[in-house]
Amino acid sequence: MKIIETIQAIRKEVKQAKKEDKSIGFVPTMGYLHEGHLSLISEARKKHDLVIISIFVNPLQFGPNEDFERYPRDFERDERLARKAGADVIFYPSVTEMYPKETPMTIRVTKGVDVLCGASRPGHFDGVATVVMKLFQLVQPDEAFFGQKDAQQVAIIMNMVETFDIPVTIVACPTIREEDGLAKSSRNVYLTEDEREEAPFLYETLQYGVKLIRSGEYNRQTVIHKMLAKLEGGSGTVDYLDIFLYPSLEKVEELSGQIILAIAYQYKHARLIDNLIMKVD
Ligand code: PAJ
Repeated sequence: MKIIETIQAIRKEVKQAKKEDKSIGFVPTMGYLHEGHLSLISEARKKHDLVIISIFVNPLQFGPNEDFERYPRDFERDERLARKAGADVIFYPSVTEMYPKETPMTIRVTKGVDVLCGASRPGHFDGVATVVMKLFQLVQPDEAFFGQKDAQQVAIIMNMVETFDIPVTIVACPTIREEDGLAKSSRNVYLTEDEREEAPFLYETLQYGVKLIRSGEYNRQTVIHKMLAKLEGGSGTVDYLDIFLYPSLEKVEELSGQIILAIAYQYKHARLIDNLIMKVD
């Protein structure tokens, strides 16, 4: 497995692979890898000749009071895990390599950002879209693998690919969970013991919402209300709990079609997100 830190070197690697007619599978990450990330790498490994992952904590997608500085990092551990999962290349650039001067432009996402994480983290998805666009230009993957855990991110990246005619297929992979249902996340390390014990109630609340809808409750407000009641008494605060059409992220009052139930919950040092996508006929 190669570790590549410069734009020049990754371009060279990609050029060579293209020359040899190798297919490229790409997994962008911010590191501190866990089974969620590794499932994406394994999926890419199954389908592609060359598997490139990126590890880059992207400052553009963090707000001024967010956890950019505190974001967990452990490159040696990541290296070991990525190799084991079958990565061929880790692209591991520094911030100055990616953004050598103040960026003269960014992508501005205009659809699907007024809700969920887009609403509570202004500018976040502009930062995500900008870095993913740069990474796609460098890696030129045939397929790029993203986790459904960040469902709004998947929807936005798919829109970006369509908008800018980027020749890549986006593959959305299922959310990997701990045994008690908590979605795996690099930020879970910041939960206190008590918070960690409580946190699976987020997934349970999502499952409860799905059950309500399956049993015939199609009114969005009612479902949200009942789900919120489940979270009452938790030791954190609900950032949002909402239901939208997916992937359009449009509002529906009477639930039908493919929908997403999504939660963001703020603990003392970690903001957790989770979602479930279901079809209502
Ligand atoms: P990061 O949070 O490191 O996640 C990298 C990829 O792993 C994303 O596609 C994310 O959805 C996926 N992932 C995270 N937890 C998962 C889980 N429990 N199950 C399945 N997949 C999971 O998302 C980002 O980084 C950044 O925004 C990035 C796309 C790299 C741009 O900076």
